Amino acid sequence: MPKNAVRLLVVSNRLPISLKRDGDEWEIESGKGGLVTAMAPVLRNRGGDWIGWPGAGSDVDLGPYLAEYSKKAGYTLHGVNLTEDDVQGFYQGFSNEVIWPLFHDVQSRCNFAPEYFKSYYDVNGKFADVIAQVSTPDDYVWVHDYHLMHVASRLKEKGETRRTGFFLHIPFPPLDIFLKLPWRHQVIRALLDFDLVGFQTFRDRRNFLQCVTTLCKGYKPSGRGPVVQIRGEGRVIKAGYFPISIDYKDFSSQARTRAAAELGDQVHDAFRRRDLVLGADRLDYSKGIPERLEAMRMLLTKYPELREKISLVQVVVPSREKVPEYQNMKRRIESLVSEINGEFSEPGWVPVYYIFRNLDRNELVAYYRTSKVALVTPLRDGMNLVAKEYCACNVTGDGVLVLSEFAGAAAQLQRGALLVNPHDVEGVADAIYRGYHMSLDERRSRMHKMQTTIRKFDIYWWVDSFLKAAFGKHLDDFPPQEVVDYHTSEG
Ligand code: G6P
Repeated sequence: MPKNAVRLLVVSNRLPISLKRDGDEWEIESGKGGLVTAMAPVLRNRGGDWIGWPGAGSDVDLGPYLAEYSKKAGYTLHGVNLTEDDVQGFYQGFSNEVIWPLFHDVQSRCNFAPEYFKSYYDVNGKFADVIAQVSTPDDYVWVHDYHLMHVASRLKEKGETRRTGFFLHIPFPPLDIFLKLPWRHQVIRALLDFDLVGFQTFRDRRNFLQCVTTLCKGYKPSGRGPVVQIRGEGRVIKAGYFPISIDYKDFSSQARTRAAAELGDQVHDAFRRRDLVLGADRLDYSKGIPERLEAMRMLLTKYPELREKISLVQVVVPSREKVPEYQNMKRRIESLVSEINGEFSEPGWVPVYYIFRNLDRNELVAYYRTSKVALVTPLRDGMNLVAKEYCACNVTGDGVLVLSEFAGAAAQLQRGALLVNPHDVEGVADAIYRGYHMSLDERRSRMHKMQTTIRKFDIYWWVDSFLKAAFGKHLDDFPPQEVVDYHTSEG
């Protein structure tokens, strides 16, 4: 490491890997999420570390596997071991039955069981312990997402001084909703223990500042622009918004390959070259999948001329299957799909194709390329990267994005997408109809606007702007070690 370089530690609930059991052995593969794509190049060969839960029970010692994987990855992974009880109380319980539904504005799905918060507090302490062990006060600790809002405060309680930043990938709710949280004081105060708190959109940060002003006497926000300051108790905390994105070039160039074109063609042939409307989501009640299916039913009822012309391909990626709300959602989706198909199918045409599995990246890109319309209609979403991936892969430049006004992405893509209220089933049906009949010129001009924005504000821009707000550093200030060695030997 060069003398004044900062070492970066990324902390997230999950390590950026997926584990597979092969008898008594484990296989580790790289994770595929947006965060890994963004952070891996920043950490690789730059002396950085990643701390997180490996995703397996505490009875297995994954240390040797993680060490071996770290060598290949070029950065060190540190596992935080969680017991079955931790996973139940901290992950399934507080994170996914309290914070997730509340922050997505659906307090009716919350289970405010008192024991969940205790587990959350304890597990955030376990993360703080690992951070303290593997870092020094000179390092910068970048914590991600709603599972870990107490990490900075737990570090302080343990007497550990670190520079810390936090990024919330999901929405931050409006004051009236946040106030329902029985641990509202603890959570908001814990967030103020970070030096920088980052959100996806202006709206999320505004909600956060309102909660701070109401609940934390003595703390005062000031300033304007994407990063403002909050002063209180002799400290200055920064609060900013940094819309997360994708590796635009990577998606766009993959979509332009011959392999993607061929696979796209095969997909289209398999659907008898009908026009495809695509939905692709993780299984979650926040994604508005039943409402979208109802919109499809409305579309085929109100505009019967579209029957046999278009099909909805709805990809649902399995997720959080142990949480009861997710099991119910799966059943609801399945029953709606069969109702709609039962009502409208004709020989040789099915209105809804339902795929319940994880598509690999090649398949997904082929679907993006081939679909005339993408339906991204969450009831609430921090950002939604499917919207951005669809645009990046739209090689012909004439695809239509129907986008929920409650997705974080709407703030950036509103000039190109057809914005809808996902609760307004008829409005969504009308938007699909409008997109289907839109002139080629209008489709091209809208798609061009979206592609230009996403290309400019890509995932590297996101990392760069967070780090700049954190301590005035750019991505380039984390030089790969080979480069450092070269200069050292020269000097
Ligand atoms: C959202 C969250 C992530 C989370 C992901 C998958 O995108 O913001 O933090 O990792 O969902 O959910 P899971 O519960 O499987 O980690």
